[in-house]
Amino acid sequence: MRATRQKERYVIDTDRLWRRISELGEIGRQEGGGVTRLSFTEEERAAKDLVASYMKEAGLSIREDAAGNLLGRRGGRSPDSPAVLVGSHVDSVYNGGNFDGPLGVLSGIEVLHVMEEQGIETKHPIEVVAFTDEEGTRFSFGMIGSRALAGRLPPEDLIKYEDGDDVSVAEAMRAYGLDPERIGEAARPVGSVKAYVELHIEQGQVLENEDLPAGVVTGIAGPVWLRLSLEGETGHAGATPMNLRRDSLAAAAEIMGLIEAEASATGTTVGTVGQLNLKPGGINIIPGRVEFSLDLRDIDEGVRDRVERRITEGAGEICRRRDVEMDIETLQRLAPAPCSELVKSAVERACERVGIRAHALPSGAGHDGMQLTELCPMGMIFVCSKNGVSHSPDEWSTKEDCAAGSNVLYWTVLDLAGGG
Ligand code: HGY
Ligand code: MN
Ligand code: MN
Repeated sequence: MRATRQKERYVIDTDRLWRRISELGEIGRQEGGGVTRLSFTEEERAAKDLVASYMKEAGLSIREDAAGNLLGRRGGRSPDSPAVLVGSHVDSVYNGGNFDGPLGVLSGIEVLHVMEEQGIETKHPIEVVAFTDEEGTRFSFGMIGSRALAGRLPPEDLIKYEDGDDVSVAEAMRAYGLDPERIGEAARPVGSVKAYVELHIEQGQVLENEDLPAGVVTGIAGPVWLRLSLEGETGHAGATPMNLRRDSLAAAAEIMGLIEAEASATGTTVGTVGQLNLKPGGINIIPGRVEFSLDLRDIDEGVRDRVERRITEGAGEICRRRDVEMDIETLQRLAPAPCSELVKSAVERACERVGIRAHALPSGAGHDGMQLTELCPMGMIFVCSKNGVSHSPDEWSTKEDCAAGSNVLYWTVLDLAGGG
């Protein structure tokens, strides 16, 4: 049984937060119970409109920037001082869960709503943000809104990345009502943001094993996303002897076994093949062409890059032996992002106030905050994930743990914004 927490430090309206999580979870609801809200679609639009209505209820001044980031601002005693930024995202993966992203956005709004209700004044203004396209599901790229806000999204990237229907980010933005040429206007000058803090579900099992509702994030693992294209030779499945084949799928299968072996060998690296396409795709045809993705991560960049090198070199040998051509495209390469001492210590103090043992843990998942490390000090608070499951309809965090995490967020933001 978890130690009772200092209930007098529980200030957020848990029922209101929980109701909003459920309401938002109905947008993009799928048959099997999951949620699909891809970037620049009507589902993401509807989600941001609903979130904007919550921001209005909280008394925030609302705007959308040139990247479609939705921002709600609460003024401070020093209106021109750097703002404290809190938030997350409301786009999702295919058939994802209710909490990945929305918990951070809705908790950020709840924190400001309570401050408004209690007439709390802070020195610094506070802004809550729903970032555009954190997941990267539609364009295999991702973090579009946070890259733009950090001034790290060149216009050419909006043309380079396309979805499965060959629609570029720029075309999708225009269809959504945004002008991709103006993406630079979303960038915030260095010095305009005091700190960024994000509440997010852990998507792993550390907090559950520690029997804790929330934890302090130490850093975010850096993902490399690659697309491997293999070109062999299409042939007749019945008439082509095994020793005469240039089977691109058989080569890909051998490479996938290599990926699993090399990633498993370090004990900290994770490697995932999430996308696979082959041509021509007939039951009686040897695949001539295969494309598949590799998502490779580690909290240590050197370890990750050494594993990547062993995989790409090994894949090259496999393809030479099988007389299959291989091309590797790098879709994204992000360095691991350490969380700042300023934010981590504020989160630790907030855990203390709420009566939660401050357990520190790294994030295997990527988050918008890793784009902001040159703009401002960045940190995260994790909430316990049931069975560590995420990116699935079975993603779940209890109402009590969401409340605990949101209260930690409240005291963290108040600390950073110079309030109380
Ligand atoms: O891929 C990730 O780690 C995040 O969920 N976008
Ligand atoms: Mn997320
Ligand atoms: Mn996610």
